[in-house]
Amino acid sequence: MSTLLRTPDAIKSEVQNRYGQIADENLQIAVADSCCGPSSSASSCCSTDSSGSCGSPLYLGEDLTELPEAAVSSSLGCGNPQAIAALQTGEVVLDLGSGGGLDVLLAARQVGPTGFVYGVDMTDKMLELARTNAAKIGATNVEFRKGELENLPLPDNSVDVIISNCVVNLSPEKENALSEAFRVLKPGGRLAISDIVVDGDLSGFPVSEAQIRAGLSWAGCIAGALTIDQFTHLLESAGFSEIDIEIQHRYNLDDFLGDLPTELSSLEPTVVQNLVGRFTSSAVRAKKQ
Ligand SMILES: C[S@@+](CC[C@H](N)C(=O)[O-])C[C@H]1O[C@@H](n2cnc3c(N)ncnc32)[C@H](O)[C@@H]1O
Repeated sequence: MSTLLRTPDAIKSEVQNRYGQIADENLQIAVADSCCGPSSSASSCCSTDSSGSCGSPLYLGEDLTELPEAAVSSSLGCGNPQAIAALQTGEVVLDLGSGGGLDVLLAARQVGPTGFVYGVDMTDKMLELARTNAAKIGATNVEFRKGELENLPLPDNSVDVIISNCVVNLSPEKENALSEAFRVLKPGGRLAISDIVVDGDLSGFPVSEAQIRAGLSWAGCIAGALTIDQFTHLLESAGFSEIDIEIQHRYNLDDFLGDLPTELSSLEPTVVQNLVGRFTSSAVRAKKQ
């Protein structure tokens, strides 16, 4: 992106530090939470709200009760890839940036024992957390591999579906990440990811796009968000077709919870609202012919 102000390595290191810390906190929960063996009582794995769901409201349609608490509490996505990927029994799935493993474990349940789900993540502590969570529920059709989106540790044409939850926006080298996604998909395979996407562009504000992005955090998923046009163009360049980007949630000031830097929060309230409203959580779908 033209507004990139830091090197890819510096961005990756900021992202790894942030997610490494989150993984550390959740590893303590994972160690303390002895409830989730394959034969343990499923309903005690994570606390449920009055609707019977537990954890993130993003997963209201999913049954999270049989999953380890540390998988749910470490979930940091901006959508629910399960809801957009329409996974089928027997499919091979890859989750880009698998974190504590929640999306992998949900996908593993959907594809069943004849299917398989790989999670790839670059942060060691997240891999440790995800493997601990998978072992806790005795998941046998999953594997977590260390690697980067920009250089995936999987062979060409090896997966049916790629899912991801708010990770492409974290990549400082999105062109490589999307080319790699295309490479590992089988012909006929599909990409179905949740990501932060800018609706329109970041022009027309009293501060420049570069200042806006510099003020926002990369690790918080916002600074590196592509516009719909940029995302579409990069997917096309990588070889994808049937591209569809569907806005699912438009952010507002409450979503930023005081995370806005002063140079942005001190702008006129209507201007700030307009600015944050251009950031959306979107479903991004595409196919490899
Ligand atoms: C927002 S979390 C998503 C976690 C998971 N999908 C979930 O919903 O719980 C981001 C994860 O992506 C990983 N990540 C970020 N950028 C990456 C990259 N370029 N290559 C590999 N992993 C990356 C981080 O280490 C972190 O675990």
